[in-house]
Amino acid sequence: MKNKNAIQSVKGVKDILPETAPQWRRVEDSAMEIFDLYNFQEIRVPIFEKTDVFKRSIGETSDIVEKEMYTFTDRGGESLTLRPEGTAPVVRAYIEHKLYNPPGVKKLFYMGPMFRAERPQAGRFRQFHQIGAEVFGSDDPAVDAEMIIMVMDLFIELNIKSLKIKLNSLGCPNCRPSYREALYNFLKERIGSLCDLCNARIEKNPLRALDCKSPGCQAVAAEAPTIDKYWCDDCRAHLDSVRKPLLDLELPVVMDLKLARGLDYYTRTAFEVVSEKLGAQNSVAGGGRYDSLVEQFGGPPTPAMGFALGVERLISLFGESEVNEIEDDAPDIYIVTMNHEAQMKAFELSHRLRSYGYKVERGFGGGSIKSQMRKADRSQSRFTLIIGEDELAKDAATLRDMVSGEQKEAPFNELIDILDEDFGSV
Ligand code: HAM
Repeated sequence: MKNKNAIQSVKGVKDILPETAPQWRRVEDSAMEIFDLYNFQEIRVPIFEKTDVFKRSIGETSDIVEKEMYTFTDRGGESLTLRPEGTAPVVRAYIEHKLYNPPGVKKLFYMGPMFRAERPQAGRFRQFHQIGAEVFGSDDPAVDAEMIIMVMDLFIELNIKSLKIKLNSLGCPNCRPSYREALYNFLKERIGSLCDLCNARIEKNPLRALDCKSPGCQAVAAEAPTIDKYWCDDCRAHLDSVRKPLLDLELPVVMDLKLARGLDYYTRTAFEVVSEKLGAQNSVAGGGRYDSLVEQFGGPPTPAMGFALGVERLISLFGESEVNEIEDDAPDIYIVTMNHEAQMKAFELSHRLRSYGYKVERGFGGGSIKSQMRKADRSQSRFTLIIGEDELAKDAATLRDMVSGEQKEAPFNELIDILDEDFGSV
């Protein structure tokens, strides 16, 4: 039964406990390796920003800005927001630190918590974690394709299957306005079937109705005109060049002409990686091109492309996959001490052992040899080092092999050599 007086975590916010933390490290380490192979550099941006950073980029009509931001006024009266995503802060930092100098392509990645006040449900949290990447300074469709391939490399490395890449182009300032108008006219005639929120926002951004999860809007969206008839030649060519290498590599890419994404900054390429195993919140990664955002933020005109994946959703796909089985992390050596002097000796020995790379656990709190050996057993350490009066007198510990049960004398000054030999033979 839950203790009513005990303080509990906030709804939609999760602890990552020691038993799952290794899975997180596995994802983060694999992502780092892959980013390195693709020559990306890490950027760490703050967890909160001025509210305008998000309002001006994600868009006033997006669900995030409209109803999901954790915004507060700080003591100085400034409006701040916990980051709901990473792209806007990275763009802000790119401009603030003039990362466009020297001119060229800048490839950045980031990892960390994001915050959205969504209704919590399976796969949807209020604090969740993203691993994301952004490339600035090139409008080459090869960048888009390479980023999608890079995301898929991570899934392959983690042995995650049954994925689909949904791809679309949201057009550019040349061709999107005519699609927008056609979509708006279509939606206006069906206004009674749309949800209140879409009713209020289709004038400003009719594309939002395509991304809305309410059943009425989804039914209308299913019949709505698609963007492909409105693409200009350049957008069409760009999309073809993104798609071709994905098809050549036999990646599971499908066109989804209704894919609008939940953020307003996209131009041209938009994509999502979805898994049929995830239920309603099926998108595990998403991204696209945002060629106007840097300029909109006051930077030099800079085309850009990026994506982010949700770590919680990714880990929920780990399943029984052997590749993701976490290695045994029991200590190499457990030190049992029989008196105060032995405890003091254990400081020196454990320090030395750790400096040689051995993972050492010490028994704390004393107790009989029997109870300490029980603790050593429970720790599943490979060896136990016992230090008592006799051992101190002989300047040699008793080293017990916890698998065979054999014991031997290990002189303190030869301990490392003995262990190196023993570990070499296990
Ligand atoms: P997003 O599609 O909003 O895109 O989020 C990316 C991923 O974050 C989603 O596919 C999902 O896995 C995860 N995610 C989003 N919201 C939640 C939530 N409430 N709980 C759990 N996981 C969630 C972006 O954030 C863009 N910044 C991606 C991007 C980068 N576009 C260009 N560059």
